[in-house]
Amino acid sequence: MFGKSPLRHTVRALRAIATNQVARLSPGMYVSLTGETGRGRDAASAQEVAGYFRTCFDDYAAKLGMSPEAFSIWLRDKRILEYGPGDVPAMGLLLLAHGARSVVCVDRFPLIRLSPENRAIIAAVLAGLDGELLQRAQAAFSVPGNIDSGFAPDRLRYAVRPNGLSGERGTADLIISRAVLEHVNDLPATFKDMSDALAPGGIAIHQVDLKSHGLHEANPLDFLTWPAWLWHFMYSHKGVPNRERPGAYRQAIAGTGLEILEMTPTALYPGEVVTAVQPHLPHRFRTERNDDLAWQGFWLRLRRRSDA
Ligand SMILES: C[S@@+](CC[C@H](N)C(=O)[O-])C[C@H]1O[C@@H](n2cnc3c(N)ncnc32)[C@H](O)[C@@H]1O
Repeated sequence: MFGKSPLRHTVRALRAIATNQVARLSPGMYVSLTGETGRGRDAASAQEVAGYFRTCFDDYAAKLGMSPEAFSIWLRDKRILEYGPGDVPAMGLLLLAHGARSVVCVDRFPLIRLSPENRAIIAAVLAGLDGELLQRAQAAFSVPGNIDSGFAPDRLRYAVRPNGLSGERGTADLIISRAVLEHVNDLPATFKDMSDALAPGGIAIHQVDLKSHGLHEANPLDFLTWPAWLWHFMYSHKGVPNRERPGAYRQAIAGTGLEILEMTPTALYPGEVVTAVQPHLPHRFRTERNDDLAWQGFWLRLRRRSDA
């Protein structure tokens, strides 16, 4: 727990504060120094990464209560907004292949790169398609079928914006994100942006990972014991987890035109993990419900309220 090893924690804090300044002054340099892909730093083959995005596609279908085939039909002509695509907009490409009209990807950090590895991922996504789906995917590039020509901006647009906010107004039929909301630096502003961006009847689906992303020590929840002010100085410009728990999400959503259709945990920590960390938590986390503290992540499905 924070403060139990003062020397170690001081060294860790000083290091993190220094690198946070590098991230503040030059987000692009910080991203290339850390080799950040958005999916973590584990090496995975292009085929595995393409498989990951196909699984995400099936998950979104399941969250809408549809088979992948029915989702593909539903997607025809839909306008998609994706928060935090990572370094390769492969999810957007798959959605275009399945008939979406356009995809806008918005991020706080300039992660997308057409590196040889990412070209290989795009090629692996294309290799998994055939027929009409392949034709539509190829038509998503400025020069059809030519990955190096980049995406045609009227099909897939990538925007890096302060706080990762889209600024869209009523233009999205479907909003998605995966492993993103736990990184956003202003949760109420992100949900407000989402509420503004959704067209009437639009749906948002998010998977949120509440785990420490490697920033804990002995107990998987002990990263919550660092005081908020110190965490801010250490990490505010790096896009690491904002540490918000489910209660903060409910509160941020309540202030918008969105309503919650589903909010369900993906996995739970055992009770003893929560009880061991609880006495060491700062006040803001101590008021969280015990069962919420146990959430390792959750699915969130939202709709724009008809009266909004
Ligand atoms: C863990 S990665 C997930 C990438 C991708 N969705 C995937 O599943 O592989 C987190 C992504 O969220 C982005 N991000 C961080 N803060 C954000 C914000 N405030 N708004 C939008 N995106 C943000 C990161 O730059 C990165 O692209």
